[in-house]
Amino acid sequence: MPLLSRLFVRIALIYLLLGFTLGALLLSHKGVFIDAWLWRLRPAHIELLMVGWTLQLAMGVAFWILPRWWQPPIRGNVVGAWLAFFLLNLGVWLVIAGSWLIAAPLIFAGRILEATAVVAFAHHAWQRVVGREG
Ligand code: HEM
Repeated sequence: MPLLSRLFVRIALIYLLLGFTLGALLLSHKGVFIDAWLWRLRPAHIELLMVGWTLQLAMGVAFWILPRWWQPPIRGNVVGAWLAFFLLNLGVWLVIAGSWLIAAPLIFAGRILEATAVVAFAHHAWQRVVGREG
């Protein structure tokens, strides 16, 4: 497994753990009141699991497994994939910070970074979506 896939998948797993922990806290809070501010963790729960876990896992596995070339660079131009990794993670934390601080510009900036990450990853993956004949 290439370094970038290992980074994508390991960070996705950390987000899974964090997201489930927040989900468990939110669920407990529904049964036994803990504190009203706990509801401010709800957007972080959603962001960590929907983007941080699901999307990041998909990108990590896709980078590893999409068709490669026989000769280096076997995964073609990887700049878009690396860019996606940094932009996606920065975007996740900006959205979480924005929802925690109730700061719409931060959430907006985070979403722009996430959307750019998707475009950058698609730009990388597109060249690798080929049949056996290349
Ligand atoms: C990959 C797994 C998960 C994903 C993608 C996910 C996603 C979401 C989403 C999208 C919402 C908002 C739902 C809405 O507004 O109708 C939500 C809310 C919530 N989730 Fe999760 N979730 C996951 C796992 C969990 C787990 C494991 C728990 C508990 C242990 C949990 C507990 C909650 C709670 C308590 C809420 C708030 C419900 C409410 O607003 O009343 N989630 N989750």
